Amino acid sequence: MHRKPLVIANWKMNLDLSQVERFFQQFTVSDDVLKKLEVILCATLVHLERVQRLVGSRAIAVGAQNVFWEDRGAFTGEVSALQLADFGCRYVLVGHSERREHFQETDGVVGKKVRQALQRGITPVICLGESYEEKEAGDTKRVVQNHVRACLEGFEPRDIAKVAIAYEPVWAISTNVHNVDGKADSPKSAQVVHKLIRRLVAEIATSTIAEDIGILYGGSVTPETVGGFAAMDDIDGVLVGGASKEAASFQKIVMEFIKQKKL
Ligand code: PGA
Repeated sequence: MHRKPLVIANWKMNLDLSQVERFFQQFTVSDDVLKKLEVILCATLVHLERVQRLVGSRAIAVGAQNVFWEDRGAFTGEVSALQLADFGCRYVLVGHSERREHFQETDGVVGKKVRQALQRGITPVICLGESYEEKEAGDTKRVVQNHVRACLEGFEPRDIAKVAIAYEPVWAISTNVHNVDGKADSPKSAQVVHKLIRRLVAEIATSTIAEDIGILYGGSVTPETVGGFAAMDDIDGVLVGGASKEAASFQKIVMEFIKQKKL
């Protein structure tokens, strides 16, 4: 098993520049720690270059929150994988539930974006998960299965080996209307879904690829809850929204993750 844990901050459309700068002043995780896992900061587009500069030579990766499926052309307001790769962006979130909800992104669109990111050497982090209504209807397995199959359809196993998957039950995301209390999924039930995703990847690609692929949990992860998720065999990382905005809490999440996984 070669999977390197990923701890991703998804700042969404939140921080302003002074807050980004303050984050870097306060995020003091050592280089030794950063060797043990991949810390990725997904900033808003206009901040990416500044974030890259603030990272400097530290082993912290920069990620985008979205990408378009063509390299260039008349697509006002979009950004391409070519442009992201140009300045060293190494990861991109694709198919986040907020994009699916507000921008009508389907699995078909997600697939096109994944292809484009891979072509430019950027790791797509494919986000998927069931809605509150789907969970209540007992449909989690079927929905997740459909997402995984549809997003990975038509890809060669060697391409699938280069993606990461984030299971984010939509109802557990702290900005979700059904989640005013900021409640995460339980680690045990997340583990069941992660195991299912790994089994599906084995069916679609190969079992070796399924063993190596990073599957992350996202949805109301905090310094207090991250340990429970990290303790699960098939949870290889976390995608953190709200609790990543402050350096202190994101740093605690990184340290707690390392501790639980005994890295
Ligand atoms: P949250 O966001 O940690 O605030 O729930 C996670 C996400 O939406 O990626």
